[in-house]
Amino acid sequence: MVPVTLIPTPDAIPVHWGWFQLLLLLTFFIHILLMNIMIGTIMIACLRHLRKPLEQPLLCRDIADNLPFSIALAVNFGVAPLLFVQVLYGHFTYASSILMAPLWLSIVGILIAGYYGAYLYKYKYTKMADSKMLLTGFISITLLLIAFLFCNNFTLMLHPESWNRYFDHPKGLLLNLDDPTLIPRYLHFMISSLAVGGLAIALYYRRQQIQGNPEAEQWIQHGCQWFGYATFANFGVGFWFYGTLPVRVIQTGSFPGAMLSICMILGAVSAIIAAIYGLRQRVMPALYYLLGALFFMILTREFLREAYLKPWFSLSDLQVASSYSPLFLFLLFFGGGVLLIFWMLKIAWQIDQNREVQS
Ligand code: HEM
Repeated sequence: MVPVTLIPTPDAIPVHWGWFQLLLLLTFFIHILLMNIMIGTIMIACLRHLRKPLEQPLLCRDIADNLPFSIALAVNFGVAPLLFVQVLYGHFTYASSILMAPLWLSIVGILIAGYYGAYLYKYKYTKMADSKMLLTGFISITLLLIAFLFCNNFTLMLHPESWNRYFDHPKGLLLNLDDPTLIPRYLHFMISSLAVGGLAIALYYRRQQIQGNPEAEQWIQHGCQWFGYATFANFGVGFWFYGTLPVRVIQTGSFPGAMLSICMILGAVSAIIAAIYGLRQRVMPALYYLLGALFFMILTREFLREAYLKPWFSLSDLQVASSYSPLFLFLLFFGGGVLLIFWMLKIAWQIDQNREVQS
């Protein structure tokens, strides 16, 4: 069967695709940053409990307190890129989601289980003895599994030539396991979670240190070490990932191929500088370079998708049925929503500070 016949015809879009692309990049950047903090911190807590089961470190207590919050933010900031990716690439992501439908839908149940675990970890923390290791292991596995399913879907969408496997296995349980990029791509995301989780810990305790917490110093060091070493380890996985990409995708002769290489180099250089700052415990410069590295890596991922889909589709193929008013209305509510979130976070921050001053 000719793969192109399996790709549905995309709907017309109301404004130029550039708007949706910009919003997709912006919201995905936030989602991936929060997702990294969520998975990274719980994995670091789990490894700590594993190494020292009887210890009650301040670090794990603080991770337990903040985990439900970071899961909620990561999930909610996943909704926006899901909407935008459907507008631009819906005809690919709908098809890939259907190929793995039961697994894709199981994410909801797995997430509820992990979220429940996070609340148990928070509210039963002091009562649990050595079962913290098991509980944090369970939460980590649920979140790692969800990430794996996401990686499967967002790589399966890039391979319409493999979709006809459905006719031999119509139960909707197809994963993208034959794709050699899947495992390095997944590991690249997960090791980056350890790094970003480490830096989030360092930042959290830098604030505590400014407020006079004498215990903060050791955890800044701990977080910075996770950040630096995990980032350097990710270079190895990054090269592995790059080595598995098909030659036609990384050819610098094409526009997406050339942009992919440029963004990847800029991302890697920013990451090296960030890691060096991290290992020197210069938390703020490490953060700025990390944000730069993430930005370029997300652009790299976007050009990679464009290069993969080139034989089948280009964003400029999308028909525009001009109607700007929904976009303006959306931007109005989006801006208002962002301001409200900032206001809420500011209040939560102030309450937290007042509580610390009183105690
Ligand atoms: C809480 C658990 C979650 C984890 C661990 C997670 C992890 C990930 C990872 C690793 C990717 C990258 C996949 C790849 O490129 O191969 C990703 C992409 C994505 N996630 Fe999440 N995610 C979570 C929840 C969600 C939720 C609940 C939504 C939506 C409601 C969501 C929306 C998205 C979207 C739309 C993308 C792809 C965007 C694009 O391709 O441009 N995520 N997620």
